Amino acid sequence: MGKSSSKGLSEGGFKMFSLKNVLMLSIALNVGLLLNHFGLKDGILQNKVGATVAQNSSRSCFSNCTVVEEIENGGGGEKKRQELAADSVVNLDHLKHLIMFSNLKCEHSGDPTMFEPFWRKMGDRSTIVIPGWQSMSYFSDIGNLCWFLEPDFAKEIRRLHKLVGNAITEDRYIVVGTGSTQLFQAVLYALSPPDATDPVDVVSAMPYYSSYPSVTDYLKSGLYRWGGDAYTYNKEGAYIELVTSPNNPDGHTRESVVNLGGGTRVYDLAYYWPQYTPITSNVDHDLMLFTVSKSTGHAGTRIGWALVKDKEVAKRMTKFIELNTIGVSKDSQLRAAKILRTLSDSCEHMVTSDHSECFFEYGRLLMTRRWEQLRDAVRRSGMFSLPEFLPDFCKYTGVATAPHPAFAWLKCEGEVQDCESFLRSHKILTRSGMHFGADPKYVRVSMLDRNDTFKLFVERLLSINS
Ligand SMILES: Cc1ncc(COP(=O)(O)O)c(C=O)c1O
Repeated sequence: MGKSSSKGLSEGGFKMFSLKNVLMLSIALNVGLLLNHFGLKDGILQNKVGATVAQNSSRSCFSNCTVVEEIENGGGGEKKRQELAADSVVNLDHLKHLIMFSNLKCEHSGDPTMFEPFWRKMGDRSTIVIPGWQSMSYFSDIGNLCWFLEPDFAKEIRRLHKLVGNAITEDRYIVVGTGSTQLFQAVLYALSPPDATDPVDVVSAMPYYSSYPSVTDYLKSGLYRWGGDAYTYNKEGAYIELVTSPNNPDGHTRESVVNLGGGTRVYDLAYYWPQYTPITSNVDHDLMLFTVSKSTGHAGTRIGWALVKDKEVAKRMTKFIELNTIGVSKDSQLRAAKILRTLSDSCEHMVTSDHSECFFEYGRLLMTRRWEQLRDAVRRSGMFSLPEFLPDFCKYTGVATAPHPAFAWLKCEGEVQDCESFLRSHKILTRSGMHFGADPKYVRVSMLDRNDTFKLFVERLLSINS
């Protein structure tokens, strides 16, 4: 295996901190100490742009605003992206261009490009070099049930879950997939009785992730079929319930809602990470899906993983992927392993090093700030509303934090019935609630786009009112 060009913390991208930054950091740390001294240890720190940031002594980011803004503004030598013109179309339904140019109805979106500046800053620490002779075999770990799973990737998955405390990995089989989208299909195959006379129903509570119905039905499988909204499902017999928590599109934490015999639950935990939501427990469901697309932002690497309790289910999922793609790209797995390792390293040393180097801390601050800005715009415009979320104690950060979901489930208040069309007429592209089994008064807005797009979106929302 080729050596990846990893460097120590001191040699990485954050070395570009100037003397000014170091001075600011020191001032900020002292302010933090003062806050602690005055009993505000678990209080709220108001940052430079007005976002309220929960913080405590061990996991806070006292230099938060400076570092987040520096990363956001592209400090540190990377190419600055071209500024967006004020009248540009703001596309917050990322794959809409595919729909426009290919006549395909594209169900998927949520391109998490927002995290790009962080990974640029990580520089060599998250870079791998794969020599031409490497990764040539189909096989990764011939003795493992999932024979195409790279051992290094499996190791980093277990390490990251342990660090965050969001999911049990002990006594679980790991199955890797080409994104959690492939794993989702592998799960349907694995859980469907092969000899049933009727396809098994696949349900999810409304509003559900818009890909579920189309991915379930596009091949017209005889094994499974889309069964609709889980809230109204009441048939006898086998069914599969998809529980997405936090939910795409509305960001709420969810439990299963169907309470009939014969069902199997699949937990899609793509967003159960500290930048989006408080980590309230170390979950140990029988079948859990995760993806680097949302945990680290590396959607293009196309890697997801399933934590599976039952050996036979894990075997059948592995069989599906074997028949579907004869395994999963080793190159992508090696890259994903490196990214997870860099992430864990950045957060594991948080107590001693600069907290803002921790990816989750960085992501949490950014999401907090964006939600504050969006809520402020919505409040001022008076034409829209957003879901409210109560803070909860996060075992990972050690403080109560509010959820800051990856999507905003925006509602057009008043006369507007078709919120997507209304926003499109103001050059804002979103995804109608109808795609999620909900009312067209709602749209889903991605909160994970690049900074300039997000800024323009907020400005555009405000201009609708004026
Ligand atoms: C809930 C949920 N699950 C799965 C996915 C897809 O993940 P992947 O990119 O790993 O296929 C998404 C992407 O938007 C999602 O929102």
